[in-house]
Amino acid sequence: MDVERQAVEVLALNDRGDHTVPHGKNYPHQWEWDSAFVAIGLRHLNADRAATEVVSLFRGQWANGMVPNIVMSEGHFLGRAGKALFHATGRPVPTHDYPLHLTRWRNGHNMPKGVNTSGITQPPMIAEAIQLIGEKMAYDERRAFYATVIGPLIRYHEWIYRDRNPAGDDLFAAVHPWETGMDNTPPWTEHMATLDWGLRGKILERSGWLGNLLRRDTKQVAGDERASTEHMMLAMNAQFGLMAHHFDAKALQEHYPLHLQDVHVNSILIRNNDVLQQLAAEAGVPLSDELLAHMAGTRENIEQLWDEEDGLYYSRDAISGRLIKSPTIASLMPLYAGGIRLERAARLVEHLKNPDEFGLPHGVPTVPQNSPDYNELEYWRGATWMNTNWLIASGLGRSGYRAERDALVESSLETLAIGGMHEYFSAKTGKGLGVDKFSWTAALAIDFLESND
Ligand code: GLC
Repeated sequence: MDVERQAVEVLALNDRGDHTVPHGKNYPHQWEWDSAFVAIGLRHLNADRAATEVVSLFRGQWANGMVPNIVMSEGHFLGRAGKALFHATGRPVPTHDYPLHLTRWRNGHNMPKGVNTSGITQPPMIAEAIQLIGEKMAYDERRAFYATVIGPLIRYHEWIYRDRNPAGDDLFAAVHPWETGMDNTPPWTEHMATLDWGLRGKILERSGWLGNLLRRDTKQVAGDERASTEHMMLAMNAQFGLMAHHFDAKALQEHYPLHLQDVHVNSILIRNNDVLQQLAAEAGVPLSDELLAHMAGTRENIEQLWDEEDGLYYSRDAISGRLIKSPTIASLMPLYAGGIRLERAARLVEHLKNPDEFGLPHGVPTVPQNSPDYNELEYWRGATWMNTNWLIASGLGRSGYRAERDALVESSLETLAIGGMHEYFSAKTGKGLGVDKFSWTAALAIDFLESND
């Protein structure tokens, strides 16, 4: 079957009416940046449905403006009567079937009523998705769509600067590895392993055997392609720490050890800040001077993450100010942000093309091949993903690297022809890895095909 037909089928399979789940079994909920990527592909098939995908995300928005990385689906095990009972009380219906029961986020004072969500966010890709959907709409329809989403979107970006800006330098400091979307990326696992997680941390560290027993994701996918249990336990540590402080920014700043100015998240923030300004102008809604000043601050200060010797950007510990010099695809993401100095962009492109580093035949690996952390098959430690290829291709196209952009889109399409609709792929051979029938792979396949015409 050709790539386009497979892609359309996967999106239909994972469609849950007003949102799309990344995968029916392993990821049965709605994820923030997944929905943004899904909408970017879906707009070519049905712009209205793509708009619904984004609007539905905001049903999980917290009272303080945060858009959570996961809006949970309701547990099927309760049956209709059980669910009705929860609905009647206004309490969120319990969920099930996510690995390690990581769906149990509690203690957030700002959690929305009646909806079960996580307590953290994900790379803020929503503005980009909204604008790309808008391009596919007639003028009146676009205005109506923007009018619906602009308020919640502005509140989301304002929240970022209120609750994820502990150093006051406008660089987004993520508090959980999942906020990057790259769960087990090496700089995070390395940094988290150095922190003191207290007694709970020690207990969790020794509970790997139990974690292994409870994991369900590895029943679907070979264990060596997933995050290790040790890395999952680190994520749980962070989750418990956040819950213990009720997700309160001030308490976290004082008592919680993990605030990482992730270069990938900041790159996405910069680009989406730019797009948000365009959307707000079109919707006729002014942004506050305060928000505009923060946005300018992020653009300016991302340059502090540049390392001249290596010619790469790195993430930084917001507490100690230490750059974590572990090269990954995040180091190249300022290409997606746009607007970086030309000579810095040129050095990033050199790394991108170098066959010993990122220049592999089947897409950009998430860790360069010459890194000791590189693993051809493992999740965010070497495999290639269609969404990160899309981000890099988008950045190349906007920074005048048209030939490099076209080559990356071409190699992504070749990889899709080999590996199908898998979650991620070997950048060496194109072999499909992780789960099959994965939504953003399908959606971005459609976008690559459309933008290649
Ligand atoms: C994993 C990925 C994350 C994605 C989620 C749902 O946690 O690391 O980026 O959003 O799965 O697909």
